[in-house]
Amino acid sequence: MTLTEDTSKAELFHAEFAEAVHTGLTGTPRRIPTRFHYDARGSALFEDITRLEEYYPTRTEIGLLSAHGPDIAKRAGGACAVVEFGSGSSRKTNILLEHMDKPSAYVPIDIDEVALGQAADRLRARFPGLRILPVHADFTRHIELPREIEDTPRLGFFPGSTIGNLELDEAVEFMARAGDLLGRGSNLLIGADLRKDLKILLPAYDDPGGVTASFTLNLFHRINRELDGNLDVSRFAHVAIYNDQIGRIEIYIESLIDQSAQIMGRQYRFAKGERVHVENSHKYTLPQFQGLAEKAGWRTGQVWVDTGNLFSLHYLARA
Ligand code: AVJ
Repeated sequence: MTLTEDTSKAELFHAEFAEAVHTGLTGTPRRIPTRFHYDARGSALFEDITRLEEYYPTRTEIGLLSAHGPDIAKRAGGACAVVEFGSGSSRKTNILLEHMDKPSAYVPIDIDEVALGQAADRLRARFPGLRILPVHADFTRHIELPREIEDTPRLGFFPGSTIGNLELDEAVEFMARAGDLLGRGSNLLIGADLRKDLKILLPAYDDPGGVTASFTLNLFHRINRELDGNLDVSRFAHVAIYNDQIGRIEIYIESLIDQSAQIMGRQYRFAKGERVHVENSHKYTLPQFQGLAEKAGWRTGQVWVDTGNLFSLHYLARA
């Protein structure tokens, strides 16, 4: 990537962010897309979330990957290219790659360039000889895979139940497009969080230490930093509720008082109690998730679930 390409990418992203915030704050209901949570600060805060006692998904999925790594590796076979969507810190990738039989390349795709570079460096040190080919992109958009892996069998990797951020129809669309990108004969190893007791679920998205709240509210700080905003973030709160009909956690930023703020020269009013919807995190039943995968053209090869029935890991094959 050249310097000018990088600059115009940054400018494009800035324009997109500005547009999304304006559209989101003038629409009904108010809503800002979740992908804007992940600047460097947001990615770091999300890393903090994954280490919380209350946040069960990360350690549970890591447990599944460790326990079933040999089985996963056997299914994937030797010399395949691992393509990871939304790689973040690539912590789980370590575990996967350790078990695999001489993987030929690792292709991390992430929207946060800093996290992408750091993860690539760490993995280079850890797995000398493995080709690491980072792609700086939004994985929900059109992506092109590096030429180098054109003739290599591919294993897609989409851990963390990151897919849970998407609406159900968007999740199907994403898995279908991942299938087109990875191609015939490919596989997809994907994590999906499961429905569970609210006593476990709610604290995972509203920890008493307030780390999740900081992650959510970072979006408003980012608007202040990057879009010349003057939102008084201390007058807003993180709110997480469970939507039982749809089976998802919904996260909002709620105004604690009647107030207004300027963003890029425009004024926005917030009534006391008014909410901006900033994230969804879907929780699936196993048959429901398999149904979504099938609709997207994937066949279930194997599903692994922990003994607490908290989290599932699906090994899919392109139908
Ligand atoms: C990155 C989408 C998997 O939904 O659990 C965690 C994001 N947001 N706490 C999730 C998140 C607040 C996370 N995913």
